[in-house]
Amino acid sequence: MKSLLWSAILVAASIVSSCQAPIQVAPIEEAGLIPLPKSINSTGKGFLLTADASIQYKGAGNKLETIANYLSDRIAPATGFEMPVSQTFGNIILEQTNGEASEAYQLTIDENEVKITSTSEAGIFYGVQTFLQLFPTEIESSYVESVDWVVPTGSIQDQPEFEYRGSMLDVARHFISIEDVKHYIDQMAKFKFNYLHLHLTDDQGWRIEIKSWPKLTEIGGSTEVGGGKGGFYTQEEYKEIVAYAADQFITVVPEVDMPGHTNAALASYGELNPGVNLPDGDVSTMVEGKIDFDILDKNPVPAELYSGIEVGFSTLATNKERTYQFVEDVIREISEITPGPYFHIGGDESHVTEKPDYIYFVERVQELVQKYGKINVGWDEIATSKLLPGTISQFWAEEENAKLTKEQGNKILMSPAKRTYLDMQYDSTTRIGLHWAAYIELEDSYKWDPSTYVEGINKFDILGVEAPLWTETVTNRADIEYMTFPRLAAIAEVAWSTKDLRSWEDFQRRIAIQGKRWDINKIGFYRSPQVNW
Ligand code: ACM
Repeated sequence: MKSLLWSAILVAASIVSSCQAPIQVAPIEEAGLIPLPKSINSTGKGFLLTADASIQYKGAGNKLETIANYLSDRIAPATGFEMPVSQTFGNIILEQTNGEASEAYQLTIDENEVKITSTSEAGIFYGVQTFLQLFPTEIESSYVESVDWVVPTGSIQDQPEFEYRGSMLDVARHFISIEDVKHYIDQMAKFKFNYLHLHLTDDQGWRIEIKSWPKLTEIGGSTEVGGGKGGFYTQEEYKEIVAYAADQFITVVPEVDMPGHTNAALASYGELNPGVNLPDGDVSTMVEGKIDFDILDKNPVPAELYSGIEVGFSTLATNKERTYQFVEDVIREISEITPGPYFHIGGDESHVTEKPDYIYFVERVQELVQKYGKINVGWDEIATSKLLPGTISQFWAEEENAKLTKEQGNKILMSPAKRTYLDMQYDSTTRIGLHWAAYIELEDSYKWDPSTYVEGINKFDILGVEAPLWTETVTNRADIEYMTFPRLAAIAEVAWSTKDLRSWEDFQRRIAIQGKRWDINKIGFYRSPQVNW
């Protein structure tokens, strides 16, 4: 019914005048916006972008010029228009207004002018993404296309449902190059994601340089699932990723998974293994109240490097002071190069850590994270410990843990494996991926509500939504794209758009338009049979 109505409006109101000839333009509702904005008011005309268009930015923020240049750069290849950017004039206006910073933005378009306003630079950036999605899909082209660059007129008021909208890349099971991480960031930004969680360490690889523990990357970074050569980011390279993401209003959340999922560290330094039995236990490593590292170094029993895909077999020695020195060094070095507020301590699947040891470890490590000024995040198992105020638990498997989190007054990041895990196969024929949680077709990733998914957990208990891509079976950019798209777009809408506005049928129509953009961008997405691409 709704779409019939729009077809009628389309026929009646779609002829707008440019200088030469009438131009067809469908209303905003037909443009295929993802995620769906909070409110849309279409006025049935068109704004024609021409070669003399220019961008003006106004306001206090020092990233406004970067946003203006981003918009200009996104539009230039397909249109051939080199839009000047200035603080003094323009018919595309980006204005940061005064007031408490909020991610909300307004986009108004009439026949002569486009205006995006927000109290935050992030909000302006989101408005820019919406504006870009209103162009004909050929705007994605990397060469000049002969198209009338008309966008529909009207206004949009928009703001996200959840403040944390994330995706995770597991760069540990298979190392992911900086170029591929940046490419992923580019795609995330188009859907208004604002957090990139990097799973930097696991049994198969340690992927971040730690200057005080160099063997972590020298040894622990030297392989990956399947026995390939692995790799790691130097601290400079990590900073490059962080800065690249920040330019698109995406904050990096580093994860060091512990005390389980640590084989790569255990292979790098024998003394971190619980199997090292010093003559009188840990006490013997203390000489006059200080740790005698010589004694430890004489007792290395490093683990073997591991390139399989089993989980749950490794643990740091939770009863050694040396372990906490290691953990503190790692947290300190990574926190120093991480401007974002969060540090993820993992904590999942520590099946060979005794329960009391696990609790002791998590509680102690939480304090270390806080000492370096960061907010703890951990997988839902951490809620079996006493959480510090503010610690976030990331729900992936155990509803009981989500409830324990709430009972402690802490917030939950929603990543239910059955809905958000991007490494799950679409169906039994999917060429890569796993299915231990579920087969997840596009509809499954779209049709769920974070605020009712776990009984007793509601919107106020939830920080946001995150879609993790685990990479046991994912080896290159083509694999990443195939598993991620179109499902990442569905999760973007789950995280951004109000449940009442969302409809699977409408999403099916809009994602097909998005598919055309992916085709032009040569993104090898999965052509779900649930969509008429
Ligand atoms: C997880 O999937 N082990 C968090």
